[in-house]
Amino acid sequence: MKRIKIVEALQQKETGVKVLVKGWVRTRRGNKNVNFIALNDGSTINNIQIVVDLANFDEETLKLITTGACIAAAGTLVASQGQGQNVEIQAENIEVYGTADPETYPLQKKGHTLEFLREIAHLRPRTNTFGAIYRMRHNMAMAIHDFFHKKGFVYVHTPIITASDCEGAGQMFQVTTMNLYDLKKDENGSIDYSHDFFGKQASLTVSGQLEGELAAMALGEIYTFGPTFRAENSNTPRHLSEFWMIEPEMAFYEIEENMDLAEEFIKYCIRWALENCQDDLKFLSDMYDKELIDRLNFVLDNDFKRLTYTEGIKILQAAIAKGHKFEFPVDWGTDLQSEHERYLVEQHFKRPVILTDYPKDIKSFYMKQNADEKTVRAMDVLFPKIGEIIGGSQREEDYDKLKKRAEEMHVPLKDIWWYLDTRRFGTAPHSGFGLGFERLLLFVTGMANIRDVIPFPRTPNNAEF
Ligand code: 4AD
Ligand code: MG
Repeated sequence: MKRIKIVEALQQKETGVKVLVKGWVRTRRGNKNVNFIALNDGSTINNIQIVVDLANFDEETLKLITTGACIAAAGTLVASQGQGQNVEIQAENIEVYGTADPETYPLQKKGHTLEFLREIAHLRPRTNTFGAIYRMRHNMAMAIHDFFHKKGFVYVHTPIITASDCEGAGQMFQVTTMNLYDLKKDENGSIDYSHDFFGKQASLTVSGQLEGELAAMALGEIYTFGPTFRAENSNTPRHLSEFWMIEPEMAFYEIEENMDLAEEFIKYCIRWALENCQDDLKFLSDMYDKELIDRLNFVLDNDFKRLTYTEGIKILQAAIAKGHKFEFPVDWGTDLQSEHERYLVEQHFKRPVILTDYPKDIKSFYMKQNADEKTVRAMDVLFPKIGEIIGGSQREEDYDKLKKRAEEMHVPLKDIWWYLDTRRFGTAPHSGFGLGFERLLLFVTGMANIRDVIPFPRTPNNAEF
């Protein structure tokens, strides 16, 4: 008999047919005549109920069917007598593939804390919560590719190993094959990277943007979607050392079109979640966040509020004057903290916000400089409960201005000569942004900690699994 997935079995209208399902036992309960096995194979959050008439099965086999065990169950699909499901399987044959000793299998009872589940990240996909999150992560990746593909954007694979620091923040992980116990140094005591694998210092990328721009200057509209790495020591619920980023880059887009695209893009992903992940969303909302689905709909129904950083600062300072307390000070010229971003979004405007025209000294060298010589054409999209979800900008297309700004910000020109070349040969106005994939997932799943929306999180002092 051909195995069918539990999601198909549960949707089957025709009863009385023979089916074979395979999966992992969530629970077995019952009495001395009949047992009920809740089986899950990951195809849906819903379990199928296997009804076992004890008279037909030997005790030795049944004893092996404990929580976590893997079994194949064949039988007849029948209309369910019990509540909570339409159909169930009246078992005729059960094969045990793998047992899970109840003494040592960690996922016994329901309601383990998320902190505990992080310590067993190799097993947590077998919980309802992480099954739902993995499926939603997949769905968001599909939504992203679908969105850009339909618009004619080209998916570009940018390198993971790089010799340039896109964001210029010095937060890169080095990649080396040098013997760290026997480093070759030059006469000044500096490490001599000419002996290293790439003949120069290399790192894991913090962003695919610079290479993405090269492609946009030929293909017009492109996007990247890949892992990025940041060695920033921020132990927060919103930072990972390894995260995934989606970075569209568009020739001929000015900042307004960049904002329009960002808003349309993020709404497309949210609509996809509402339309394609209903069971998982309902579970996550019931378990963790009753307002989740309302919040998703709310974002769809409202235009994002657009204003400048300077206007944002005025609103925050007015709030302080009225007695609102922030942990960090608010001064023009300093970067906003997540508490400030969330105040604007959650308390002041009560909807997503796009802040533009940030002070140039807190943003990267590549952003287009405004005529005021103080601000750049940056745009950050700020979301409820998250703060910054997207960071982007119009790019500086003028060769001299870009080169001068790189020098002022101590970006070594020898590392980015190829990037500067795009401004020497057929330069064009262009814009782009980066969406943090896990920040999007935080929003659509309602989870509170970014470590719970990536299968195997990497954070300071943590690279297990
Ligand atoms: O604002 P960021 O640093 O922008 C860039 O990297 C640009 N090169 C993007 C571009 O214009 N092409 O990062 C973009 C987004 C942030 O808004 C945030 O959502 C996410 O990436 N992000 C992180 N997510 C998880 N952990 C971290 N440590 C993150 N740092 C940034
Ligand atoms: Mg940013």
